[in-house]
Amino acid sequence: MEALKEKIRQEGRVLGGSVLKVDSFLNHQLDPEFLNEIGKAFKEMFKELKVTKILTAEVSGIAIAVMAGLHFQVPVVFAKKTQSLNLDPETYEGEVYSYTKQQHYKIRVSKRYLSNEDQVLILDDFLANGEALKGLYQIVEASGANLVGTGVVIEKGFQEGGKKLRAEGREIKALATILSMDHGDITFL
Ligand code: G4P
Ligand code: NA
Ligand code: NA
Repeated sequence: MEALKEKIRQEGRVLGGSVLKVDSFLNHQLDPEFLNEIGKAFKEMFKELKVTKILTAEVSGIAIAVMAGLHFQVPVVFAKKTQSLNLDPETYEGEVYSYTKQQHYKIRVSKRYLSNEDQVLILDDFLANGEALKGLYQIVEASGANLVGTGVVIEKGFQEGGKKLRAEGREIKALATILSMDHGDITFL
């Protein structure tokens, strides 16, 4: 997605050589019109698929998934990271390893909102180590739903997640793939 690469070049900030801050439109402040373009681009990317539900993880996946949901005209479900009283007790679970916190945590979706009749498209903002996607795959599998595709806004191609998951047979598409960010210079695929 050319407009996304341009936006990243204009507004992205590289921290510590491997973290891309896109807080001005994706991860903190949200740019609705631009996120709508991302939603549209996902629809175009996956237009051949029959999708009944979009699945993402809180927090940053929600905005882009909702925008995509408008274009697919399907509900969006986000996996929750904390077990709260508001969450139904009956859930499908996935396990995610956080490299920053160096610990595992669970993500959960109520059994009410995913079933073996669903055709699920997984969407997320970043693919880095692939842990979030791994947890979402576990949830889809536990529900018996059919996984029809996976899309991410930004893949950091220099990290292991994409390679690892594709080696396991996962098909993942990215709207923008970053090959390197050396010296703050962002190179796209
Ligand atoms: P991954 O396995 O999901 O690929 O991510 P990883 O554990 O490496 O990263 C932890 C969190 O940081 C994830 O968000 C992930 O989306 C995000 N992340 C990874 N690399 C970058 C980056 O270069 N830039 C930005 N802005 N984010 C990055 P999270 O904590 O699971 O979700 P959320 O609550 O922020 O949505
Ligand atoms: Na995310
Ligand atoms: Na994030």
